[in-house]
Amino acid sequence: MKVLGIESTAHTIGIGIVEKANGKTVILANKKSVFKAVGKGFVPTELAGHHAANFGKVLGEALAQSGLHLAGIDAIAYSKGPGIGTCLRVGATAACYMRARTQKPVVGVNHCLAHVEIAKWQAGLADPLVLYVSGGNTQLIIRDGRRYNVIGETLDIGLGNLFDSFARSLKLEHPTGSELEKLAAGGKYLPMPYSLKAMNFTFSGLQTYAEKLIGNYPPNDIAYSLMETSFAMVCEGVEKALTITGKKELIACGGVACNKRLQEMLSLLSEDRGVTFGASANEFNVDNGAMVAFTGAKLLECGFKPETREIAINQDYRIDQAKLPKTF
Ligand code: FE2
Repeated sequence: MKVLGIESTAHTIGIGIVEKANGKTVILANKKSVFKAVGKGFVPTELAGHHAANFGKVLGEALAQSGLHLAGIDAIAYSKGPGIGTCLRVGATAACYMRARTQKPVVGVNHCLAHVEIAKWQAGLADPLVLYVSGGNTQLIIRDGRRYNVIGETLDIGLGNLFDSFARSLKLEHPTGSELEKLAAGGKYLPMPYSLKAMNFTFSGLQTYAEKLIGNYPPNDIAYSLMETSFAMVCEGVEKALTITGKKELIACGGVACNKRLQEMLSLLSEDRGVTFGASANEFNVDNGAMVAFTGAKLLECGFKPETREIAINQDYRIDQAKLPKTF
């Protein structure tokens, strides 16, 4: 079975193609175009305009990489949510058009589930505690029967949002978390507010505090301290969750899981506790179409029913609302 996956929840329009055959899964293609906001936050209509304008190009690149024509695809998966409504609508409309053109089944995939599933597969871990860290989400997740359960999460903004917003306050040329990570190299630690309630996080107070230091301390010291403090909060949440659940496996997924320092801290705490830690390659931690195709293929293989009429979106589609097939 060859499945084409469309990702369009936020700043990325991505298309991946995955083949599942004889118990093996191969990623045949993974292409994307990422909207870059210069000096400001994301404007939903601008993001959707970018996705619509670049969809054809990314589709062509993905088909060329896979060596397939659209007719060779057996099913189409798309990110149903959570995400920005205008962006989700571009992906859903594309899926709708492709269904009409190819008569192939279409399956709506929870975006967070796709992050988790591809990371589990790439790390080779069956039943891990999941740390999902991205722009919009910061969650501690475990599998609980036919769904995933969120056992801890941010009560305000996602970790990636904290970094992106702070990078904008510093007026970095490319205000993203990855640019902030480069700036933080060699910084010195400044004490910052630390807020963890059970296994839940709050980051907005930390953001306000860090922004008030701009102009009074070197930017790299503030960036370094912001990352060290927020990662320490996340790691303490992970340690509590490992203790409570007794899990012996841990994965990190989502865009912020690309951060080398976060991965180092998670590796160290895992080593201390005899826990196996794993993560995807960065190409699959950031938003991408391959993870949607991978999860769509797994859902269909396990008997998940394709969309029959409307190809819907759900901006607030949490991972714990995604009911999974029995054998998933
Ligand atoms: Fe994501």
